[in-house]
Amino acid sequence: MRVSPQGGMGVVVEGFEAATATAEEIAAVTAAVYAEKIVVLKGQELTPKQFLALGERFGEPVTYYQPMYRHPEVPEVFVSSNVPSDGAQVGVPKTGKFWHADYQFMPQPFAITLIHPQVLPQHNRGTYFIDMSKAYQRIGAELRAAVAGTRCQHSARRYFKIRPTDVYRPLWEVLRDVERETPPVTWPTTLTHPVTGETVLYVSEGFTCAIEDSEGSPLDPELIQQLLAASGQLDDTFEHENIHLQTYEQGDLLIWDNRSLIHRALHTTTPEPAVSHRVTVLDRFGLHA
Ligand SMILES: [Fe+2]
Repeated sequence: MRVSPQGGMGVVVEGFEAATATAEEIAAVTAAVYAEKIVVLKGQELTPKQFLALGERFGEPVTYYQPMYRHPEVPEVFVSSNVPSDGAQVGVPKTGKFWHADYQFMPQPFAITLIHPQVLPQHNRGTYFIDMSKAYQRIGAELRAAVAGTRCQHSARRYFKIRPTDVYRPLWEVLRDVERETPPVTWPTTLTHPVTGETVLYVSEGFTCAIEDSEGSPLDPELIQQLLAASGQLDDTFEHENIHLQTYEQGDLLIWDNRSLIHRALHTTTPEPAVSHRVTVLDRFGLHA
């Protein structure tokens, strides 16, 4: 197993064999995920079952709460796809095209996300990342002081995707169900990463919906906008110094620290097939120390 840095953020691992990886190798990859935030395992050809088995070595897999995203044979595998299988839609197309951490709107967000692209389009496919611990260091002393002791609410409501079963339902009913199933969760605006000890700014354009002071009184939502702008999430050119674009080659399997990073999918704008599998896991630590 050889580990080498890639441009921007993260490391590339060559010679990793998922089926025969030793406990030491898994520990080394896990340490690299926390230290470097992104690990790209090259040359992986894994069935959904084998992919899940690999995920299980990094933590406890979590099956996505909405059935339409689940792989038909291996429900723990989340499918992003625009390719019908036998005429039926499998998984969900155009997922995650907004800044977020996976499951940020849930009481227990994932520790680690693993992505294994299956069908790669030729053009414009990748994932943008921002390291929110670095972003916190760069937002400036004034904003850091403004968020000290504050808390943020996160909700799935803004980017909730209308399901096939929602067609012809009144919108208020769908919204009521979203609030019932995934009520907003509240976390400190800055978290201490339980493994690295880094301070992470825990705010995303996709899910953060309100900010409050230490007593629970609402603060001006403009403060959220300032945090989004300062961390690079409102930059439509994606040229902000915090933004890293991760592209894929066939056989790549990406593992990242979902506590430190937020991400945003870059989907191909040409009508090309694209399929990606995802496994997400919890580890023995909570969201923050
Ligand atoms: Fe995501």
